[in-house]
Amino acid sequence: MIRHRAVANAPLSLQERPPGFVFREPAQNAPRDHKTSLLQCEDVSLLKLAKRYGTPLYVYSARTIRQRMAGFERAFGDFAHTVCYSVKANSNLGILRLLARQGCGFDVVSGGELKRVLTADRHAAKRVVFSGVGKTRHEMLAALKAGILLFNVESESELAALAECAAHLRSTAGVALRVNPDVAADTHPYISTGLHKHKFGVPIATAGSLYAKAARERYLKVAGVSVHIGSQITDVAPFGEAVSRIADLVRQLRSQGHSIDFIDAGGGLGIAYQNPETDFEDYASRYARVVTEPLRELNVHLLLEPGRAIVAPAGVLLTSVLYRKQNDGKRFLIVDAAMNDLIRPALYSAHHEIVPVSRTRRAANESGEIVDVVGPICESGDALARDRELPRVEEGELLAILDVGAYGMVLSSNYNTRPRPAEVLVSGKSVKLIRRRETIRDLLRGEP
Ligand code: LLP
Repeated sequence: MIRHRAVANAPLSLQERPPGFVFREPAQNAPRDHKTSLLQCEDVSLLKLAKRYGTPLYVYSARTIRQRMAGFERAFGDFAHTVCYSVKANSNLGILRLLARQGCGFDVVSGGELKRVLTADRHAAKRVVFSGVGKTRHEMLAALKAGILLFNVESESELAALAECAAHLRSTAGVALRVNPDVAADTHPYISTGLHKHKFGVPIATAGSLYAKAARERYLKVAGVSVHIGSQITDVAPFGEAVSRIADLVRQLRSQGHSIDFIDAGGGLGIAYQNPETDFEDYASRYARVVTEPLRELNVHLLLEPGRAIVAPAGVLLTSVLYRKQNDGKRFLIVDAAMNDLIRPALYSAHHEIVPVSRTRRAANESGEIVDVVGPICESGDALARDRELPRVEEGELLAILDVGAYGMVLSSNYNTRPRPAEVLVSGKSVKLIRRRETIRDLLRGEP
């Protein structure tokens, strides 16, 4: 296994994300004017990618995704489990294919995501779980026809609709109820889900009667219980708490005669956007321990739905500085990426590290300047970073916004009629364009 450099005691630059994104130092004997280190993705210079594909540009490291996925898998060891990668985090077919090749299952929340998964791997259906509070009948029928593993049902009405669809096709639907464990997790209010005040799941206390209802339906097969308490949770304790409540419910349901084969523990494991974790496997193992501990005696198959933890550190967004600008005391870097390309800073006040792609030795030690990094969109909310200390960068230089492999491109929009960026996937020296840049013509198509 390849370990992060930090584990081998080398100081990890705050601004690098090994194993995918590290600065390549200039050779010792390089001429004085070439003493610039360049951020690269695996073996490829980001400067070259920007020249070839233009900016803004999403760049992903296949090695990072493979290693994180393998590390997550290993953390669960021989506990019977399937990792169902949460497609919503990054649904590009190139990424899904990469994960399918590693034997991954998938968590989908729409007919569109299901279609993506089946396009990436037409044999994946038996490893697919379908979550979400508002599945339409149309989507349920498609999932039944595909033969997915499990529906995570979130309400009594949805259960009735699923029973109807399954009866219509005379095909049995595997059902888990998503229960709301009423566990609080420390995260942004928009992405916390495990409390009664949230729209998700059914209260644990009423789950029993819904399971009884499901069991009476000829074309529903009660198969599991599912839970998801929120996203970007970096303290593992609440996951353990939620799973132990689920374990109690499983015992109760079994005593009532239901056969519960699966526990779906959802996703939500966060990443450290500001101080990247130096040993992902250790972190994933702590998570695996709290999740599996309450299930030891239960003889269940565990399903896991990580998204961010697998792909977030595998992506950067490259952007060019268009203009420098100073209004009174305030300095701005106006860049060619904007909130339509990456909405997390504007929507959640999320922090993403930003680094210049080229840095001279001198600049690396120099104290920088305090700037707002903003996009061209006509809203004051259109910022990628505020009051951020950066080394001085000039117009035309390239910046990399880090940790955008999850909830980056998938949340992008065409606001201000801005075509969305291209995406490339790097593996060693090889570069694959996995989505071409949109054109304005693409945007106008469909409007007669
Ligand atoms: N399973 C379910 C049922 C979910 O609702 C989610 C995320 C996941 C799995 C995957 O969670 P993850 O492992 O990626 O945390 N746009 C927000 C995140 C929204 C997450 C929604 N649900 C962000 O940019 O932070």
